[in-house]
Amino acid sequence: MKRPLVVANWKMNPTSLHEARDISLSSDEKGVVICPPFVFMEAVKMNIKNAELGAQDCYLESSGSFTGEISPLMLGNVGCRYVIVGHSERRRVFNELPGIIKDKLKAVLDAGLSPILCVGENSKKDDAERVLEEQLGDIVEYLEDNVIIAYEPVFAIGTGEACSPGLAKKRREHIKEFIRSKRSNIVPSFLYGGSVGPENAACYIEEAGFDGLLVGGASLESDKFNIILQKLGW
Ligand code: PGA
Repeated sequence: MKRPLVVANWKMNPTSLHEARDISLSSDEKGVVICPPFVFMEAVKMNIKNAELGAQDCYLESSGSFTGEISPLMLGNVGCRYVIVGHSERRRVFNELPGIIKDKLKAVLDAGLSPILCVGENSKKDDAERVLEEQLGDIVEYLEDNVIIAYEPVFAIGTGEACSPGLAKKRREHIKEFIRSKRSNIVPSFLYGGSVGPENAACYIEEAGFDGLLVGGASLESDKFNIILQKLGW
């Protein structure tokens, strides 16, 4: 079996370079993608020998007058291979709309990097299938084989209340079928994200058929992160 991909999304953590170096050293395994804050990217890159470097977001232009932004071209030039696009925190806190997410995805692909596109319903009350189809609707025509879809139900992110493997599997199959109905030649990989920890990590791969995991909180705690990797067969 192919080794799962484990993406470590550090979000706006840790707060010091020294901690960033420590965490990256203890997560430096093949098949791991470390997504640190931009400011620590170069230092993490220097520290890792086995893991890959990813980014948590980017802008949609290559360069120019866009104060405060980072382009996919810059990310590629510092050795980054993956970029998370459309994380629910970007959608919710920074009001990122579907049009921007689509343009970011295209920009990441144009720069030769692999987008990790996050989708997921907000609450258990949502009509999840409709929400997922809306999130993918305009984007589906731009998908390429190196796009990774991360199914992250928002109710499970950072709450300790993970989605059950059975439900996650159902959602993964729905997304896969929706993409297949529009783009039968595209076969994306799937990650599950939302309160992944040592106790549930293996279920999403073994029971729910995901190709990997997007890990937030637990990726900052070396002990937990290493048990997750062990459970996945590292
Ligand atoms: P969590 O975050 O593992 O802390 O729930 C996952 C994510 O937001 O990608």
